[in-house]
Amino acid sequence: MAAPTAAKVEAGERALRAVVPDWAPRWRALMRRDDNHMAYGRPASRNGLGYTEGLGNPGTSAQLADAALVAPGDGEPGWAVGGSYQVVRRIRLAIERWKDHRQTDRDRIIGRRPDGTWLDGRSADARPDFTADPLGRTTPLDAHVRLANPAAQHGTPAPLVRRSYSSAAPSDGHGLVFICYQRSLANGFTAVQHRLAGEALADYLLTTGGGYWFTPRPDPSWLGQLFA
Ligand code: HEM
Repeated sequence: MAAPTAAKVEAGERALRAVVPDWAPRWRALMRRDDNHMAYGRPASRNGLGYTEGLGNPGTSAQLADAALVAPGDGEPGWAVGGSYQVVRRIRLAIERWKDHRQTDRDRIIGRRPDGTWLDGRSADARPDFTADPLGRTTPLDAHVRLANPAAQHGTPAPLVRRSYSSAAPSDGHGLVFICYQRSLANGFTAVQHRLAGEALADYLLTTGGGYWFTPRPDPSWLGQLFA
């Protein structure tokens, strides 16, 4: 898939300026989504390590909203309701080292096969039963998916929505731009990232930048006032 064209970037900036005339970018990441497709009702893509990504996201629109959107009663100001906390991490991938491993070893680091099939043989749209594998013989205890969502055996998605891209900036080499949205940073990104601290995948990743933002609900009437 081609990198975003300058024309597309300009069109996006024009649309933003129509709402906020003084808007100017402070930070920018050029990104692309390889093999962008729908899989089991979820937007999916192929990340730089060669794995399908997006399958573990919430599936229904109610689940998506519950994970990603600030709701009334969350203790947030009225203008934040319907918006989402966004986390961006620019991550460099040690792709040469990764490729040195056999496919089966890479699968054990992720906890799924490249097409999303689970290591216990279940299909990509099923949930694994980690309780049947308490010692991690099939899916190691430090596999990415196992740590990212220990509730996986209950069929409950982690309370965040991931939408990752490959970096299209030549200076990034093999890079991934990890983006996720959540209603609560504490329950979403922060909780998951803490659990991932000891994961086997960490040896192949170097986080080089990123940040935390708030994505307001698309409502030009109040957005204009906020920046007035
Ligand atoms: C370069 C970095 C990363 C790579 C290559 C990667 C790759 C993957 C892959 C291949 C899957 C399985 C497919 C899927 O469910 O989408 C997955 C699942 C997941 N990842 Fe990552 N990921 C990365 C970083 C992160 C980070 C930083 C977080 C959050 C802090 C995260 C959270 C999750 C979650 C919650 C799941 C779903 C687990 C489940 O419910 O089965 N990932 N990731």
